[in-house]
Parts: sequence; C-alpha cells; structure tokens
Amino acid sequence: MEILKTKREIRAVVKKAKESKRRIGFVPTMGYLHKGHLALIQNSMEDGCFTVVSIFVNPLQFGPSEDFQRYPRDIERDISILEKAKVDAVFLPSDDEMYPAGHLTVVSVPNLSGKFEGAIRPGHFTGVCTIVAKLFNIVQPHRAYFGWKDAQQLVVIRRMVKDLDFDISVIGVQTVREPDGLAASSRNVYLSEDQRRRALVLSRALQEIRQMVEYNKIIDAEVLISRGREIIKSEQVELQYLEAVELENFEIIKNIRKNTGIIGAIKVDKVRLIDNIIWD
Ligand code: PAJ
Repeated sequence: MEILKTKREIRAVVKKAKESKRRIGFVPTMGYLHKGHLALIQNSMEDGCFTVVSIFVNPLQFGPSEDFQRYPRDIERDISILEKAKVDAVFLPSDDEMYPAGHLTVVSVPNLSGKFEGAIRPGHFTGVCTIVAKLFNIVQPHRAYFGWKDAQQLVVIRRMVKDLDFDISVIGVQTVREPDGLAASSRNVYLSEDQRRRALVLSRALQEIRQMVEYNKIIDAEVLISRGREIIKSEQVELQYLEAVELENFEIIKNIRKNTGIIGAIKVDKVRLIDNIIWD
C-alpha cells in the first residue's frame, strides 16, 4: 500500500494505475476508521477498482464551536486497518497541502445545504463540497463511495457532481450498524456507557418506523413521525429533527414512497448523532 502526503505524489500514483487500465475507486474519509468506512472500501475493491482512501480532518467543515480540535485521530491504527483491507493507496495531506496560504475559493450548493444538517451547522456543507471537489480534482477517480449514514451529504455531493459536470459515479453504500443497532460513527467514542444506551433510542425509533411502513403498510408521514417522536421523548435526549423527506431535494413529504427517507438527529448531552432510513 502506498502512503502519499502530497498532491503531486497521489496524482502520479493514480496516473500510473490508469496507464495500466485500472479503474479508480475513491473513498474520502476523516479517519478514525470503523466498519462503516470499511464497507465503502469493500464496495470499491469488489468493483475491481484501484482503491484510494483519503484521510483528512477538514477544518473548513467544522463550525467555530464544533469538535475539530478534539475530533478522534489515530493515523497509525488507520494505516494498519487499510493495509489489512489491501487498499492500494492512502492520501494523507496536511492542512497546508489542502489549504495553502491564500486559498479563497469555496464550492456551495445553496438551498439543499441550508436544510436540516446545514441549518444546524451553518457552512458545513460548503466545507464538505469544497474539500470533496478538491479531492475529486486531485484523485480524478471513476467512482467515489459515500455512506447513506450521512444521507444529506450524499445528496449534496450528487448535486455538486451533476451541476459541475464531474465525470464521476457517486455510489451510495448502506449504513453499517453495531450489533445493537447504533449506526457506526467515529463520534461514537465520545459516548459514555450511559450515553450510548440513551443514544440507541434514535435507531430504535427508526427501526419501529421501518416496521410500520414495511409490515403494517402505514405510509402517512404524520403518523410515522409522531410515533417516532414519542419513542425519542421516552429517553433523556434532545431531539433536533425527525422528518420524512424526498431524497432528491430534502423537501418534507406527506407519504412514504420510493426515493424518500426519514432523517433524524439527536443530542445526547453534548454529543450530536444522526441516523436515517431510506427507501431508494
Ligand atoms: P467521515 O465521517 O469519516 O465519513 C466518511 C464516509 O464514510 C462518508 O461517506 C460517510 O457517510 C461514510 N460512513 C460513516 N459512517 C458510516 C456507516 N455507519 N455506514 C456507512 N457509511 C458510513 O463524511 C466525512 O467523513 C466527510 O464529510 C468527508 C466526506 C470525508 C469530507 O471531509
């Protein structure tokens, strides 16, 4: 596995792989890898791609009062995980490599970026789109893999790729969960045992909604959402939002059908967690 720290080096490695007719699969991450990230990597490997993983905790996507400084980092551990997964190349740029002095340009996807996650985290998706556009230009993959765990991020990236004519297929990968149902996340390490127990209420609520839709054939969003809110209220957590949305534009909808989802965010004390179920 090649470990590259500069744009020049990763470009050269990708160029060589393309010369030997390999297709390039790209998995952007912020590291502290878990089984969700591994599912994206596995998808790229199974597609036969020369697989490039980037690890970069992107300062631009964190708000001033968010957890950029304390975001979990363990590069040694990440590298050994990626080696075991037989990834072809890892791109580990420094902050200066990605944002040298004088960097000004940003990429934003208005409207979509202002809802839900974007409303609670102003500027977040502009930070995400800017770094992902830069990484796409550096790595120039054929395919890029993103998790449905961050449903709004995936949809915003798809919009950007379409609008800016990136010749890249964006592949969405299903959310990977812990055995108890909690969606795998780098931020789960912030949870104490008691907080983690309370955090489960979100996946439990979503799971019950899924049953209501798929077994009881209830598609009325109002009925589903009010049941979900009731479940979440039974636990000591702060509900930030729980809504049924159209996946393409994140508009609130009245009935569940294809290409819709239920998205939720809670705060367990100071830790924010998001989760969703989608029918795509
Ligand atoms: P990060 O949170 O490290 O996530 C990297 C990728 O892993 C994202 O596409 C995310 O949706 C996916 N992922 C995380 N948890 C998952 C799970 N439980 N199941 C499936 N996929 C999961 O998302 C980011 O980093 C950043 O915003 C990034 C896109 C790298 C830009 O900085």
